[in-house]
Amino acid sequence: MKITMIGTGYVGLVTGTCLAEVGNDVMCLDVDARKIDILLAGGVPIHEPGLEPMIRRNVSAGRLRFTTDIDAAVGHATVQFIAVGTPPDDDGSADMQYVLQAARNIGRRMTQWTLIVDKSTVPVGTADRVRDIVAEELAARGVHIPYAVASNPEFLKEGAAVDDFMKPDRVVIGADDDRAIAILRNVYAPFQRNRERLLVMDVRSAELTKYAANAMLATRISFMNELANLAEHLGADIESVRQGIGSDPRIGWHFLYPGVGYGGSCFPKDVRALQFTAEQVGAPLHVLSAVEAANDAQKKVLVDKICARFGTALGGRHFALWGLAFKPNTDDMREAPSRVIIDALLQRGASVVAYDPVAMDEARRVLGDVARLSFAANPMAACEGADALVVVTEWKEFRSPDFDALKRHLKQPVIFDGRNLYEPDVVRGAGFEHVSMGRR
Ligand SMILES: NC(=O)c1ccc[n+]([C@@H]2O[C@H](COP(=O)([O-])OP(=O)(O)OC[C@H]3O[C@@H](n4cnc5c(N)ncnc54)[C@H](O)[C@@H]3O)[C@@H](O)[C@H]2O)c1
Repeated sequence: MKITMIGTGYVGLVTGTCLAEVGNDVMCLDVDARKIDILLAGGVPIHEPGLEPMIRRNVSAGRLRFTTDIDAAVGHATVQFIAVGTPPDDDGSADMQYVLQAARNIGRRMTQWTLIVDKSTVPVGTADRVRDIVAEELAARGVHIPYAVASNPEFLKEGAAVDDFMKPDRVVIGADDDRAIAILRNVYAPFQRNRERLLVMDVRSAELTKYAANAMLATRISFMNELANLAEHLGADIESVRQGIGSDPRIGWHFLYPGVGYGGSCFPKDVRALQFTAEQVGAPLHVLSAVEAANDAQKKVLVDKICARFGTALGGRHFALWGLAFKPNTDDMREAPSRVIIDALLQRGASVVAYDPVAMDEARRVLGDVARLSFAANPMAACEGADALVVVTEWKEFRSPDFDALKRHLKQPVIFDGRNLYEPDVVRGAGFEHVSMGRR
């Protein structure tokens, strides 16, 4: 099948590549020439495990192409996926300009029946807006060409995106057009050979499902973060509590880890956008206001702990920071808690040396040159002469450090463990002061 992917970011690039991997002829379009140039030169603009060899394989097989040429992209296929960004607008709503521009570009150029698939996370009602915009453009051209618009929200996780796409838990299709449903069934058939994973529903329910999923996961995280803070007051151990509730099949194990707050390109903006939608129609989601407030507060908890130990004026203090990306296995720095923590430490006069296995280039790009912030070549180098180690992202390589070496490198053996990576008894036994998130 010929497929066009509009938007070659985390979602578009992974989706386009995986669709090529199963034999489709995929063209990926982006308006960002920098990204397309990197891809055309054989590079990959993002870090995603397993993606690079898959891109290389499919490009050399001639099934995967990259372009900035909108005419070529619209002309390539009658199935056009929209996977552009939907960043937050100032009022918290989703900024729809990229989605609507992509729809306009299709309407201005399409010459035959076309299926337009919204893969971006978009507010309920967007498929209708896309349909209207395409109709407007066709009317302006004075042509009548039939088309369908479907919703196909994406549930992949950054850091495991290729795996998630190749082996989805479910594929949600929102459509009311039989031909559209049949095409999307075909597109996804190779990814569900052992059992049916397709959930076909009406468009609005599909659009809402995506927000509901992210809002539910964010809720679990905020709940656990608040519970961890409470456990500290009560002398309980949040890890025992986590085991105690996660073992209940009605609750399950996922997303029950307390930490430094959720970040990334999805949860914060999707929680806000869903709240905005809910308020607009007069059915506010009070739960989500609390989820967001708890998350904002949580991003500051680790800094509060640092201030409780070293005082609020941190001039002359020097901190090693492990982990910049908002979660492991990605270089994504969007709304990463590390940014809030670094900012707060610098504002109080401290200096920070950070290390991250893959996100340092991206951090330099988004943070720019910042006084008293530098980057180290390896985790131990970051700790050289530091007053304490601050663990922000739970990369695997941080899980079992050489504690003796760590003690030699640090000026004082203090660890602020923002992800509860270490067993308190073990690190304390190794001679460290260990500050955790709700551990006893
Ligand atoms: N990142 C995730 O983990 C994830 C997971 C599920 C869903 N989503 C959703 O998918 C969408 C895309 O997210 P992302 O993380 O891939 O964003 P991204 O910012 O990484 O990529 C979006 C790309 O779209 C391009 N673009 C913008 N306007 C365009 C246009 N008119 N034509 C062609 N390209 C255009 C941008 O240049 C950018 O490269 C968002 O709605 C997001 O909420 C993201």
